[in-house]
Amino acid sequence: MKQDMIVILDLGSSENTALAREIRALGVYSEIYPHDITKEELQKLPNVKGVILFGGEHRNVDGKDIDVLPEIYDAGYSVMAIDHAPALCEMKLASMPTEEQLRGFVFDTCKADTNWNMKNFVADQIELIKEQVGDRKVLLALSGGVDSSVVAALLIKAIGKQLVCVHVNHGLMRKGESESVIEVFKNQMDANLVYVDASERFLGKLAGVEDPEQKRKIIGAEFIRVFEEEARKLSGIDFLAQGTIYPDIVESGTKTAKVVKSHHNVGGLPEDLAFELVEPLRQLFKDEVRACGVELGLPYDMVYRQPFPGPGLGVRCLGAITRDRLEAVRESDAILREEFAKAGLDKKVWQYFTIVPDFKSVGVKNNARSFEYPVIIRAVNTIDAMTATIEDIDWPILHKITDRILAEVEGVNRVCYDMTPKPCGTIEWE
Ligand code: XMP
Repeated sequence: MKQDMIVILDLGSSENTALAREIRALGVYSEIYPHDITKEELQKLPNVKGVILFGGEHRNVDGKDIDVLPEIYDAGYSVMAIDHAPALCEMKLASMPTEEQLRGFVFDTCKADTNWNMKNFVADQIELIKEQVGDRKVLLALSGGVDSSVVAALLIKAIGKQLVCVHVNHGLMRKGESESVIEVFKNQMDANLVYVDASERFLGKLAGVEDPEQKRKIIGAEFIRVFEEEARKLSGIDFLAQGTIYPDIVESGTKTAKVVKSHHNVGGLPEDLAFELVEPLRQLFKDEVRACGVELGLPYDMVYRQPFPGPGLGVRCLGAITRDRLEAVRESDAILREEFAKAGLDKKVWQYFTIVPDFKSVGVKNNARSFEYPVIIRAVNTIDAMTATIEDIDWPILHKITDRILAEVEGVNRVCYDMTPKPCGTIEWE
């Protein structure tokens, strides 16, 4: 292992991820572990240079204050305790370390080296993956999203053809998306890639289904079914790789933090398909995952792409999905992305896409009455997707996009811009 590490023991501070990020920003790797880690477990961790006990507002668990095991103090590491636990319900935030104190502890007391960078991370992970997997095989559902793409690139580097990537095209992908997965991973990286075109199957299951939740459930369940069928066809696979990243772990609940939402990246596979997990990104924050992707040579567009929901264009083709409207969503989305890239908005706006509702309006085209669908443009900015504001797009850009959509997308006679922030609207329409 190439990186020194400062271990943060979680005594209930909601700031512990911020502290880990702060230490990593100093160039020193940091990980958070549960408060009840044993001395033996701690000593097994590689290159630990120091330990921070970080108490906070959630220190009281089930009516009792939690603490670290006393043996931790005899583990042979420098220890710093920070507490901003509520004293008589008041927050004692004053005891948070200034950056200077933190630097003093990390560099002067612990003598940690600034060797946390993506080059070293990649080198370490390759070593760890090789150690875990040996000469056995690993399966990965490769959606083409940032996390699964970075995991794939890392595993290809570590174990080459022992990785089997399965890319399921559910027919709700954006224009050119599956093609780019094949181009990058099969053609450029020479990956062992199984491409499954399940478009017809998904569209068949979704035919006539109007309810958004029902649509999401069908897409999720069908995805697992298709993936499972492919997994059964492949023999001798012992591991399942997942693009789990650090925020997924935190949001799924720790010993002191409540569950925000359960994350299932592949989730719900039947028990008889028992795999051991390989999750090399589980300690990375999103920006670090992207940096790792760049280090591994993935294309910029793949690494810095905007978020795209699992159910894909299915939740943007409102109501019961029809082929003509799905095509209208896909084509208008492609035009929007192209024009945003030309205007430099792709690097500025957090998420942007089009929606096609399931009603028509009257218009006039080529001197004749038309009765066709509208396209709605949505472009939002947000930090955490919990709230969002709309992007104030310059009128000339909107005019250009509108003209192109009306001229190039079949079955569309109207374009609208969604002015709604979140709340009241959600980012997606379904
Ligand atoms: P909403 O519509 O809830 O979306 O404001 C917040 C963010 O989450 C994305 N989103 C999803 N991502 N699976 C995903 O992986 C989903 O089912 C899903 N639904 C919404 C949405 O695109 C936005 O970035």
